[in-house]
Amino acid sequence: MKILFLGDVMGRAGRRAVCENLARLRDAWKLDFIVVNAENATSGMGLSAAHAQALLEAGADCLTLGDHAFDQKDMLRFIEQEPRIIRPLNFSRAAPGKGARLFSARNGRKVLVAQALGQVFMKRPFDDPFSALEPVLKSHPPGGLAHAILVDFHCEATSEKMAMGHFCDGRASLVVGTHTHVPTADAMILARGTGYLTDAGMCGDYNSVIGMEKQEPLRRFLTGMPKERFTPATGDATLSGVYVETDDRTGMATRIVMVRDGGLLQAAAP
Ligand SMILES: [Fe+2]
Ligand SMILES: [Fe+2]
Repeated sequence: MKILFLGDVMGRAGRRAVCENLARLRDAWKLDFIVVNAENATSGMGLSAAHAQALLEAGADCLTLGDHAFDQKDMLRFIEQEPRIIRPLNFSRAAPGKGARLFSARNGRKVLVAQALGQVFMKRPFDDPFSALEPVLKSHPPGGLAHAILVDFHCEATSEKMAMGHFCDGRASLVVGTHTHVPTADAMILARGTGYLTDAGMCGDYNSVIGMEKQEPLRRFLTGMPKERFTPATGDATLSGVYVETDDRTGMATRIVMVRDGGLLQAAAP
């Protein structure tokens, strides 16, 4: 299967890039399944129902969230009506929606998508992501019902993400990190066949501080004092993420390539 995963969509610039380009990439790269992390799609803070619909209509088969999952209040209800949106497994016991789900790709094959939040350097003490993922992986063994198994691991620390990659090795087709908004250059296939990338980067304007207009973050670093709200940068966005090919029989990755399209970052394609 040919799968595309795109990192955190950041504000209007990110949404515009997804809506204008995803159909073209699907055709050009013959994609079977597309996952988009959309936790920052609405003003950089969460995902509204209207913006979720726009990203799904643009061609995303699944939207994942993150620590900002419910910053837009209408997502608390919308996630119960829209099964194509996944929130982190370990967000909170009280959270609506699901943290993992089996999807049908356009060609009829089954894809499991799961998301978890890390614990290191995160603003809230989330539950252990490893024990949250364990039963999900156990109930969907590779070579079983799911032809591909995708894990979005949303966290800050590169060490925690690499550890998760090895924890899932041989049991997931892809483990990809999100949340830092900066892509890492370590796309690889791990020893037992899991495709891995520490961070997918963001779909947003890179002439920014992790997607936000530069002025206010700079002010806060320089003076320690906030003056205005953070607002997403509005220049041309780069779509950033990872492309993976998987073997339907084993569920393991056979090829993995980082992708970048448009905007400031150097282009990369499968
Ligand atoms: Fe994010
Ligand atoms: Fe995040």
